[in-house]
Amino acid sequence: MRVDVVTIFPEFFGVLDVSLLGKARAAGVIEFGVHDLRSFTHDRHRTVDDTPYGGGAGMVMRPEPWGEALDSLVTDETVLVVPSPAGHRFTQAAARELATVPHLVFACGRYEGIDQRVIDHYSERIEVRELSLGDYVLNGGEVAAMAMIEAVGRLVPGVVGNPVSLDEESHEDGLLEYPSYTKPASWRGHDVPPVLLSGNHGAIAAWRREQQLERTARIRPDLIGEQ
Ligand code: ADE
Repeated sequence: MRVDVVTIFPEFFGVLDVSLLGKARAAGVIEFGVHDLRSFTHDRHRTVDDTPYGGGAGMVMRPEPWGEALDSLVTDETVLVVPSPAGHRFTQAAARELATVPHLVFACGRYEGIDQRVIDHYSERIEVRELSLGDYVLNGGEVAAMAMIEAVGRLVPGVVGNPVSLDEESHEDGLLEYPSYTKPASWRGHDVPPVLLSGNHGAIAAWRREQQLERTARIRPDLIGEQ
């Protein structure tokens, strides 16, 4: 897989060299490219934004630098991801879909967003997905893109060492994950649930399922209806 990011803050993406994604990059499992939007401007001030037509607060990112940047990256195989609080919700299911795409380009907007014509123009040619991390507003798409890249990247074969561990996580089966414990068996008066020490694999699996259902009903009842 190849992932390209276009941003006015390339330094946000230094973390791509850390931890599992860093290893995947070093091993060539995922190729990353980070591109400074301002290098696609031609004026002395390297302008990327302007005031909104129709008035209102804030600034909007101009289409021309985006057009030049994306033209240099996009192929017929590309899915363009635009992180935006106005997008569809980014879920584990979306991460799974994106993990099968050979080339992702993330367009990180700042200010009040990117001129809508950029999204409309590339939608005529390739798949464009406007995706939101959740119902809150970040200062720009960079942190959201990084979260999405991590969620997608760890599903790419060869990135996470033991793929079985991926199946047992929160959201993979539509439920929250069961609680986990390790040694010691007793800590500050809190004991590990005895069933986990029983060696009875059937009983352990049943207990974990029960915990998943109880936790999901208590913390995220909205997920139960989605199953
Ligand atoms: N950009 C700003 N806020 C965002 C959010 N909640 N999700 C994705 N991108 C964003």
